[in-house]
Amino acid sequence: MAARPVLRHRHLVGGGIAVRHAQLGCDINPLVRLITTAKLTPIPPRLLAAHLDKLNDCLFQVEFSCKVPDKPVPEIPNLAYWFSEEVIRTLAFLRAWIDEVEEETVRNFLWVAFSETVRECSYTRNGEFKLHRMPAEKLAHFQPDVFGIFRKKLSRNQHGLAIFMEKRQNVEASVSSANTVHGEFPMPRPLGGYDIVVTSPPYGDSHTTVAYGQFSRLASEWIGFPNARKVDRLAMGGHRTESKLADSPVTEAIEEIRSVDEKRANQVAAFYTDLGSSIHFVAKMLSSRATVCYVVGNRSVKGVMLPTDAFVISEFGQHGFSHRKTIVRNIPNKRMPTKNSPSNVAGKTAATMHEENIVVCQRTTP
Ligand SMILES: C[S@@+](CC[C@H](N)C(=O)[O-])C[C@H]1O[C@@H](n2cnc3c(N)ncnc32)[C@H](O)[C@@H]1O
Repeated sequence: MAARPVLRHRHLVGGGIAVRHAQLGCDINPLVRLITTAKLTPIPPRLLAAHLDKLNDCLFQVEFSCKVPDKPVPEIPNLAYWFSEEVIRTLAFLRAWIDEVEEETVRNFLWVAFSETVRECSYTRNGEFKLHRMPAEKLAHFQPDVFGIFRKKLSRNQHGLAIFMEKRQNVEASVSSANTVHGEFPMPRPLGGYDIVVTSPPYGDSHTTVAYGQFSRLASEWIGFPNARKVDRLAMGGHRTESKLADSPVTEAIEEIRSVDEKRANQVAAFYTDLGSSIHFVAKMLSSRATVCYVVGNRSVKGVMLPTDAFVISEFGQHGFSHRKTIVRNIPNKRMPTKNSPSNVAGKTAATMHEENIVVCQRTTP
C-alpha cells in the first residue's frame, strides 16, 4: 500500500533552470505512511549494509545458542490467539533490536520488513484482508521461521531500494496524515496548487469491502502505533454521517438498495458522502490545469452495481474538471476472494470485480 492521494507539483527552482518536483502522499493509516516513508527515503547503501551485517551476526548468535533472549512483549489484546508463544518471543526480540537502532531511516526500513514478518508469522489466513484465524488443523503444524522470513524480506527490500534509488528523480517527497474527507489540507501546499493527483480511493466502507485497518492491525500494534484499531472507522464510510448525499450518478442505485435494505443503503450513502467531500477538498488543492487519475471499482451491493466512475467524474465536474478518458484494466495482484457473497447469504456468491477503472479528468475551468 502507498499513501493516497499522491499529489505532484512542478515548480521551478534556480531561475527556471532546474525543475524540481514536489510529491505528497497522504493516508490515515500510520502503517501505510511508514511504508511509504521508508520506500521513499534514500539510505546510503554502506550504512544500510553495515546495519544488516550487524543484525545478521546477532541473529546467527541467537540461532547458535538455540535460545531467543526474553524481551518486553507489547500489550496487545488477544496476542496468544494470533501468535504462538515462540513466535511472540522471537518477534519481541526483533522489535527490541529495531527499537535500539539510532538512525530513523534504517529503523523505518527494518519496521517495514518486520511488519510483513508479523503478518506472515501470525495465525491469520493468507489471501484475505479481514482478520480470520487459520483452521485448527493448520495451527498445530504452523511453525514459521521468523528470523528466516525477516531476513528474506530485508534482502528483497534492500535490493528494491537500490533499484529505486537509481531511478529516483530529483523530487521532494512528503507523507502526510491528513484525512482528506475532513478537509485537513496536507502540507506542503505549494502556491498555485498541485498539478496531478494519482490515487485509488477505497472501493467502499472498510466494513463491507477491503478492511485495510484490520489487515494492518497486528503489525501496527507490534510496532506500537496508537489507534491501530481505529483505522477502519476513520476511513471513508467508516462512520455514520448526518449530511445527506446530494443527487448524483449513484442515487438511483442507492435507492434500489434501499428498497431491500435500508441500513445497507445508508452505509453506502455514507461512503459516497465521504468520497464526495474528499474530492471537494482535493480539488481545492489543485492548480488551474491539474489532472486527476482516480482508480475506482464499480462494486455491487445487494446485486446493484454502483457507478463509482460516473460519481467521480460528476464530483470533479462541479470543480471545473472535464472527463478526458477512462482506462479499464484487470486488477493486478488482487488479494480478495474471487467470489464473494454480496447478499451475505451463504452459498449465494457472485464474481467480485476483476476490473477497475482509471478515471482521468482535467481542469478546464479554473
Ligand atoms: C485502495 S487503498 C489505496 C492505496 C494506495 N494509495 C494505492 O493507490 O495503491 C485506499 C487507501 O485510502 C486510505 N483512506 C481511506 N479513507 C481516507 C481518508 N479519509 N483520508 C485519507 N486516506 C484515506 C486507506 O487507509 C487506504 O490506504
